[in-house]
Amino acid sequence: MKTDKQEVSFNRGVPATQSLPKGKVSEVAASVLDRYGDSLLQYGSSRGFAPLRKKLADWYEGATSDGVLVGNGSLQILDMIANLYLGPGDTVVVEKPTYDRAITIFNRAGAEVRGVNLEQDGPDIEDLEDLLETHDPTLLYTIPDFQNPTGISASTKKREELAELTAEHGTLVVEDSPYRKLRYRGEEKPALRSFDTEGVVQISSFSKLVGPGIRVGWVVGNSEIIDELAVYAEDTYITPGLLSQGVVNHLVGEGWLEENVERLIGLYGPRLEATLGSLEEYFPEADWVRAQGGFFVGLWLPENTEVNEFYNGAEKENLILSSPEGFFPDRGGEDFVRLPFPALPPGRIEEGIKRLGRVWRSL
Ligand SMILES: Cc1ncc(COP(=O)(O)O)c(C=O)c1O
Repeated sequence: MKTDKQEVSFNRGVPATQSLPKGKVSEVAASVLDRYGDSLLQYGSSRGFAPLRKKLADWYEGATSDGVLVGNGSLQILDMIANLYLGPGDTVVVEKPTYDRAITIFNRAGAEVRGVNLEQDGPDIEDLEDLLETHDPTLLYTIPDFQNPTGISASTKKREELAELTAEHGTLVVEDSPYRKLRYRGEEKPALRSFDTEGVVQISSFSKLVGPGIRVGWVVGNSEIIDELAVYAEDTYITPGLLSQGVVNHLVGEGWLEENVERLIGLYGPRLEATLGSLEEYFPEADWVRAQGGFFVGLWLPENTEVNEFYNGAEKENLILSSPEGFFPDRGGEDFVRLPFPALPPGRIEEGIKRLGRVWRSL
């Protein structure tokens, strides 16, 4: 039996509804249709809208438009990379835990997925070295900034070591960084790709900066990979959603995007503080990540917790949690809890974490 308490959902990592720029998108869509309508509503290059590719290339030192493809969200770009470069017999290394949909994509491509242990400052380098030597993986997938699902950011040293090791082994690296601009505390770290522009491709997205429904993501990488992705994209969807890309191009060009990132930091920063502060106050027995940005704080239940009972107790308290198994490539990890905080006001976060602590103490 559930209590009649109002639900608190720590289920999905989605932006706050109030952050979705409906009015702005409507206004900009009308204006870009006026200006570029004939090309935005027509078939175009599978690489995406040229003015947006140019602006994105300018974000990266030494990059040109030839090294950028803009597609329908970053997840589909990851799927294209997996379909192009992976098949049965290939191994992919991912962090343990990692983004559940990435595991699904690699499995679906027929690859074997292996997990490298994730520490508070990024992947365990010794463990990685071991995996590279014993499994000779084709691809390594990593989320160095405010990782989904843990909130962990890799240290600069580990980024450097990881890039060096994978270059030595000739392993293609996919750096997934949709949360990179959403830093609420601490100092920015160099992108992984800055240590190896040939061997690392970076994928990213406007889903968390504008809204997921706009479906605009991009990849920056060496031009050979981008050329191959462009052919694959053309054979898959001919042209990406150009109207969305025209809107995003305008939002970036007029400086709205940078202002919006500041607004999002103002909205989400206090939500991260509420999450960390409430854990300290109501659930100090647990072990959690001192995240500095992004959408998630990962939490490990105290040792010897009866995990099933904990999850059942949480359900009775009307707490919605995502099931942790999906984040672990080789299962395990049942004592992990992902807390996405952006969509909840601080008071709801506090209430949810109070209930989490209460459930654990009641066991
Ligand atoms: C790490 C990571 N990569 C990719 C995505 C998907 O992004 P997009 O909406 O651009 O497909 C998400 C969404 O939650 C994510 O957390």
